[in-house]
Amino acid sequence: MTKISFSSVCAHEIKDNRSTKPHILPIYATSSFEFENLQEGIDIFTGEKQGHVYSRYGNPTIDTVAKKMGALENYGLGGEAQAFLCSTGMAAIHTTLLAVAKKGDKILTQGNLYGGTTELFNKVFSHIGVEPIFTNLQSIDSIKEALKKHPEIRLLYCETPANPTLACIDLEAVGKICEEHNLTSIIDNTFATPYLQQPLKYGIDIILHSTTKYLNGHGNSISGSIVCKNEELSKTIWNVLKLTGGTCNAFDAWLLNNGVKTLPLRMDKHCANALHIANHLETHNKVIKVNYPGLESHESYNIASKQMSQYGGMMSIEVDGGIEAGKTVMNNLKFCTLAPTLGDIDTLILHPASMSHLKVPKEMRERNGITDGLIRISVGIEDVADIIMDIEQALEKV
Ligand SMILES: Cc1ncc(COP(=O)(O)O)c(C=O)c1O
Repeated sequence: MTKISFSSVCAHEIKDNRSTKPHILPIYATSSFEFENLQEGIDIFTGEKQGHVYSRYGNPTIDTVAKKMGALENYGLGGEAQAFLCSTGMAAIHTTLLAVAKKGDKILTQGNLYGGTTELFNKVFSHIGVEPIFTNLQSIDSIKEALKKHPEIRLLYCETPANPTLACIDLEAVGKICEEHNLTSIIDNTFATPYLQQPLKYGIDIILHSTTKYLNGHGNSISGSIVCKNEELSKTIWNVLKLTGGTCNAFDAWLLNNGVKTLPLRMDKHCANALHIANHLETHNKVIKVNYPGLESHESYNIASKQMSQYGGMMSIEVDGGIEAGKTVMNNLKFCTLAPTLGDIDTLILHPASMSHLKVPKEMRERNGITDGLIRISVGIEDVADIIMDIEQALEKV
């Protein structure tokens, strides 16, 4: 071949000159993958040969981290779980629902979901003929009653512990009832993480995460995951994911991988700090109620003790004095950060009534314990004395 021009040297991709294996998973920032020759392309496209084609269909960084998510959710349970990484937690939720719900189906769910999920049900899925039925999933009688009243219910979607009241749903009971009624069961396991709770143990079909939260843990990436052990369901989900395009990108998957490495260390500290703070605030004169499933006074203490190895890093407190008291605490915090996320290593505080649940109707919020004076705390891994000092000084201003 004759000498190629200067501009072609600039434009052409340099061949990878890697000689030894990298210790850390590389970020494959490539949209597509090359074939050695046409036959290889045909073999990969037809599935005769394993290989990557295009990053929306899979990428070594994304697939490796997805595999880790499957291994964590299925840890110690035998068999293999399929796992997919999505661009956000919401992408994981809507991809799954699009894959498993058909027009005319009803989804049985709870009123105290993450606000965005409630909105997704009310404003997106109900418009395409998939209606949410909100009930109290903590009560098996309520579930049975709803199933009798709505024979079109095909799916059960739950979140436990729930955001932000930390109410827990009995996964064993839900798994059983879904099996008896042939319902596909889906759980958002974001608050617990697979380190504290493994819903696959109870026969739950699909496990979702906003991996943006504890799994990444450092507040520097946005992603979601879907884990499923049923091969048929997994295939359907994968098909919808690649066609709707909510796949994760390699950089955020890589950041997730970094975070997951310290998940148990971080979670142990989150849980210990949260329990300490919950015990401390339970007798505080400005606090009407502490929602933490590790307190014996919490309505879900027994269920949480049965299905979680520890009680998590999330809690909420109801400050005496309604909306004004809630705002006063928020405006006087100096050490903790006001931020609308959770699961980072530092303590993050949120006022659901004016932030995460702003668009959830007030009547529905209050029915589910999300009152105007409720403050959600994502307890960080700092020195617990510093967190308590800050919350106490803010409560004094009420
Ligand atoms: C429990 C829960 N599920 C899902 C989501 C949505 O996740 P993402 O923001 O990654 O889309 C959130 C977000 O706050 C959440 O708290």
